[in-house]
Amino acid sequence: MSECVHTSFDDGLAIITIDNPPVNVTSHAVREGLMAALDKIEAAGATRVILTGTGKSFVAGADAKEFALPPQPPVLPEIVERIENFPVPVIAALNGTALGGGLELALACRLRLAAPQATLGLPEVTLGVVPGAGGTQRLPRLIGLAPALSLIAEGRVIGAVEAERLGLIDGLMDDPVTAARSHPLPERPVTGALPAPALDPQAIETARREANRRNPRQDAPQKAIGLVEATCRLPLAQGLALERETFLALKTSDQASALRHVFFAERAALAQGKTGGAEIGKAVVVGGGSMGAAIAYALAGTGIEVTVVETDTASRERARANVAKLYAESVKRGKMNAEAAAAEEATRLRFQSGYDALPAADLAIEAVFEDMDVKRQVFTALDAALPQSAILATNTSFLDVNRIGDGLSNPSRFLGLHFFSPAHVMKLLEVVRGAQTSAATVTTALRLAARLKKIAVLAGVCDGFIGNRILTRYRQICDIMLIEGALPWQVDAALRGFGMAMGPYEVQDLSGLDIAYANRKRLGWRTKPGFRYIPIADRIVEETSRLGRKTGAGWYDYDNGKQTPSALIDSLVIGESARAGITRRPFDDDEIVRRAITAMSEEGFHILEEGIAAKSADIDLVMIHGYAFPRWRGGPIHYAGRVGLPEILHRIEAYAAADPLSWKVPDLLRRAVREGVDPDSFGEQP
Ligand code: NAI
Repeated sequence: MSECVHTSFDDGLAIITIDNPPVNVTSHAVREGLMAALDKIEAAGATRVILTGTGKSFVAGADAKEFALPPQPPVLPEIVERIENFPVPVIAALNGTALGGGLELALACRLRLAAPQATLGLPEVTLGVVPGAGGTQRLPRLIGLAPALSLIAEGRVIGAVEAERLGLIDGLMDDPVTAARSHPLPERPVTGALPAPALDPQAIETARREANRRNPRQDAPQKAIGLVEATCRLPLAQGLALERETFLALKTSDQASALRHVFFAERAALAQGKTGGAEIGKAVVVGGGSMGAAIAYALAGTGIEVTVVETDTASRERARANVAKLYAESVKRGKMNAEAAAAEEATRLRFQSGYDALPAADLAIEAVFEDMDVKRQVFTALDAALPQSAILATNTSFLDVNRIGDGLSNPSRFLGLHFFSPAHVMKLLEVVRGAQTSAATVTTALRLAARLKKIAVLAGVCDGFIGNRILTRYRQICDIMLIEGALPWQVDAALRGFGMAMGPYEVQDLSGLDIAYANRKRLGWRTKPGFRYIPIADRIVEETSRLGRKTGAGWYDYDNGKQTPSALIDSLVIGESARAGITRRPFDDDEIVRRAITAMSEEGFHILEEGIAAKSADIDLVMIHGYAFPRWRGGPIHYAGRVGLPEILHRIEAYAAADPLSWKVPDLLRRAVREGVDPDSFGEQP
């Protein structure tokens, strides 16, 4: 008998307990164990069988690590079918999480009783697949077409109360295992024998539209909707066969591979902060502008007492208003009630000008203007005002972290914490290790990130760290395509077609052309040796008043807010090609995407090679969570692996041959091609 499935007998009753920590996935051993348990019970005889889990999980789903392998028997559908047709009733006692295959097992049971903390769902589409053990065929039979569509196509996970309301469970009780011993059985037949719901083309159409809006270009939600629709048309056996076929086909698809990769990368990133490090009790945030206010709000939300430091009374009051606005928004969105918001604001946040009488904080985060001298002065003041043990962090986007922190009495407690805007919403946090940052400081920062529920990625010091460095490179290569023959709206459309949420030029219009301009100036692009400088964006800023949406025009015109390509910008671009002596040539969408995305991957390989990022998955996480790279493409390094590293190498070599100033083949990539390395696992511990 398998160790992860236990069977006990008690007074004619058999209890099967799945015990496969940490979350009871249906690994091969569990599946074998379940079959063996059913054999044993059938041989011994019992009047009823209770199926339950351990800890916080009933069964949290399939073992995603097995997804990449061919299915190993016994497969879950066999077990589900055996449970549904078992000679005596099997009752699911849902002690906790019942997701994916876990819910499919429960659906095959005669009765489902759940503890209040149980959560239920079929989240397969979020991993690029569909349920593969009857979920799409049984759930609509049990709860009806529209609710099943919403759960399956969105991959939504619900609590026990909602599950009871939907009829997904038959009872909510504190101790479902005990209740399952004697709970009366329903009159209805087993789920698979229930009549299928009537086809409702409008519900299907709405679900398709909604899935397309929420997850454009993703296959799994649309396929899942098709399978739910099939429930209404096909006998159970045919529906199940179609579901299994669809599941197996999707399992090895590019999208499923990408979504799985991101899932594991996120899980690893979130786990980093779960062990070690010191707990932060009090924090100081210097600068209460858009970033500082949101950081202060996020810290306070986790129970940290925050003092926001500004320069004078007026800016202090502005900072207070900035934070108050965030609380007001959260009340408006129903995330907090007004009393709780007011209490948190009053008890956890203080605002002051200057550094007098600062509390003995464990952490200070600086979010003042992006100016080296201003930032250095702030840290000199913090060094004097706070205990020597306090961690000091800068939220700079581009400045040299080592220069900001040098001169501190104890630079080992200094690092960069690069939040993304809006800082209370965006999941990503680049934890930037300076030359002298200690391991203990990093560990505490990771612990803070976990407390803030952020996906933390370690980065070394360079211009733009991981994310802004890749963004800069991507924009540079897009600018080169402009001067060679593409137009901004065309580049944007092509990259949106690839799956980026927005194209690079519309993003600039949103964030303001003057911001990027100031950065380029600071980095000295115009005169940077060995750099192919494209002056189009600088000319827009210097010669026109078009600074983006905020001025009503930028790369685009905005007539009544509607974004339209600008004839003026087109002619400026074309004129710039002429000035550079370049004969423009047409670019198609494929070429634009290939070049722009290859540039991201190329920069990613350089970043890995230089040790700025520790592992490739971190680069993927940064681009997905900070820059709207499509999750279902897996990030620029995973994507390069799916395209094929030899192909990516070949492309970069060709680009470098044509434009040696702008492209450089990363040695790491050459080596990876030579050695046949899987790019997803660069930097991972074996
Ligand atoms: P902001 O201009 O909205 O806020 C800056 C705040 O700092 C102002 O309230 C100002 O009064 C205050 N301040 C200036 N000098 C100060 C001093 N010596 N002592 C105390 N307070 C002072 O700027 P934002 O957008 O909040 O950016 C702040 C920092 O965060 C910058 O370093 C920026 O590069 C970085 N950052 C910005 C992101 C963004 O998307 N806005 C994203 C990530 C980082």
